Amino acid sequence: MPLVTTKEMFEKAYNGGYAIGAFNVNNMEIVQGITEAAKELNAPLILQVSKGARAYANHTYLIKLVEAAVIETGLPIALHLDHGNSFELCKSCIDGGFTSVMIDASSKPFEENIALTRQVVEYAHDHGVVVEAELGTLAGIEDEVNVSAEDSSYTRPEDVQEFVQRTGCDSLAIAIGTSHGAYKFKPGTDPKLRLDILEEVEKRLPGFPIVLHGSSSVPQEFVKIINENGGNMPGAIGVPEDQLRQAARMAVCKINIDSDLRLAMTASIRQYFSEHPDHFDPRQYLSPARDAIRAMVKHKIVDVLGCDGKA
Ligand code: G3H
Ligand code: 13P
Ligand code: ZN
Repeated sequence: MPLVTTKEMFEKAYNGGYAIGAFNVNNMEIVQGITEAAKELNAPLILQVSKGARAYANHTYLIKLVEAAVIETGLPIALHLDHGNSFELCKSCIDGGFTSVMIDASSKPFEENIALTRQVVEYAHDHGVVVEAELGTLAGIEDEVNVSAEDSSYTRPEDVQEFVQRTGCDSLAIAIGTSHGAYKFKPGTDPKLRLDILEEVEKRLPGFPIVLHGSSSVPQEFVKIINENGGNMPGAIGVPEDQLRQAARMAVCKINIDSDLRLAMTASIRQYFSEHPDHFDPRQYLSPARDAIRAMVKHKIVDVLGCDGKA
């Protein structure tokens, strides 16, 4: 089976009350860990590549790694550009074999976001590629938690119909309280996603696939291993998994996870070197790191996304 777009997987996910995991890939061990997990559980999959990943690993290497995963697993896999920030970057990925791109113009004013998204949609659709757009702004890693400032960055449900209609985008990322990175909420606070906003969006866009970025849960057992083995990540906190599961039962069809894979890999490697300070063969410490990614992805597929057996 060749790489697929997300069209059919989103239709099935929307109707089935589950979501597809979109996991960021940067090297071979990450691609293998993710895709082995999906194969074991017969789950559909989105592998996504950021601008930074493309700069780190090179477009051709990443494409070939993902093509190898398609051959090895036989699963429906979509290859997606994560956070494309220009028409040129989106075009380059479309021309280079991606089946899905995100144009993230969410930091621009509404009309500019529409214009740039529309431009990407026209080119992408002419080439059989689907487009994710974003409305509302996710908090960054450094953002202070301040209710009114936070409120202003949530997606406004009253804007979504016009945005989708005028851009022609195929899915929409919204801001309901998730954020990127490992420090999403202040320690001691009770993290709550604004599922009420999601519900309002769903009412205005029935049947339309919604995307959640910044959806790592930052498992504390991994933070503990990192901190006990020479790391320093105090106060790393993520999104509660039960709230993500709830969102997946609603209109959310794609859930983005990157930081949790980084944590799993880093915890494994830090622990490995604490136990084997004399080792220096990368295969020795990358094998358990790849296993840790596989275990993390299996957990997400079963307990958060609910897409096991849906390939
Ligand atoms: O949302 C961003 C993803 O986690 C990718 O991060 O730009 O460091 O590759 P990156
Ligand atoms: P996390 O940092 O929560 O893993 O989010 C990843 C993401 O949104 C990639 O686009
Ligand atoms: Zn993101």
